[in-house]
Amino acid sequence: MNINLLKKKAAWEALKYIRPNTIVGVGTGSTIYYFIEALSTIKHFITGVVSSSHVSTLLLQKQGIKVFNVNDFHSIDTYVDSADEINNKMQMIKGGGGALTGEKIISSMSKKFICIVDASKQVTTLGKFPLPIEIIPMAKSYIATEIIKIGGYPEYRKNFFTDNRNIIIDVYNLNIQDPIAMEKKINSLSGVVTVGLFFLRKSDIVIISAKNGIKTLKK
Ligand code: 5RP
Repeated sequence: MNINLLKKKAAWEALKYIRPNTIVGVGTGSTIYYFIEALSTIKHFITGVVSSSHVSTLLLQKQGIKVFNVNDFHSIDTYVDSADEINNKMQMIKGGGGALTGEKIISSMSKKFICIVDASKQVTTLGKFPLPIEIIPMAKSYIATEIIKIGGYPEYRKNFFTDNRNIIIDVYNLNIQDPIAMEKKINSLSGVVTVGLFFLRKSDIVIISAKNGIKTLKK
């Protein structure tokens, strides 16, 4: 089955978890593109959304979905997003699309994080996908040096600026033995805005779309 069809099926399945008159957090990426399409069919059933990126905001507005400023809220009911890699503990690497900081802020504020993926995103060990880190431009050399010290190979993402006018370093070959310690360690480096490890705030429900149907994992 075509991968886009798998993404679309996962996206539509997520509608089951959206509750009436709530604010929905919306992630970023090609899977979320389908979720935004699906969400537009129930837009009068929800209060509105908060968006993790400028790209998603434009797609949401195009569908006539009301987009609120995230700072208007202290907590969000449900956050729906995809991942670049996910393991069977529902921990993820995210940020392939460069929207990791917005995604981390909204997922941290959300009562429920629903991750929608096609089966190709499932892995036993996280880390094959290069780990994105959003950093302020001034910290590029320092962070690269620190990443080499912990065994990773940093590569600056060329011609790319985040919504916050920062840059991304993608880290290859990182051996993630203790994920939570690694998330804390990288986040504590001066100049790091956020790292694309989603361990401290992992997902609560994972919808996996495969050739043989939909599988749902719950905490
Ligand atoms: C964007 C993300 C996305 O969730 C991740 O890259 C997956 O994207 P796609 O649905 O296009 O495969 O973290 O920053």
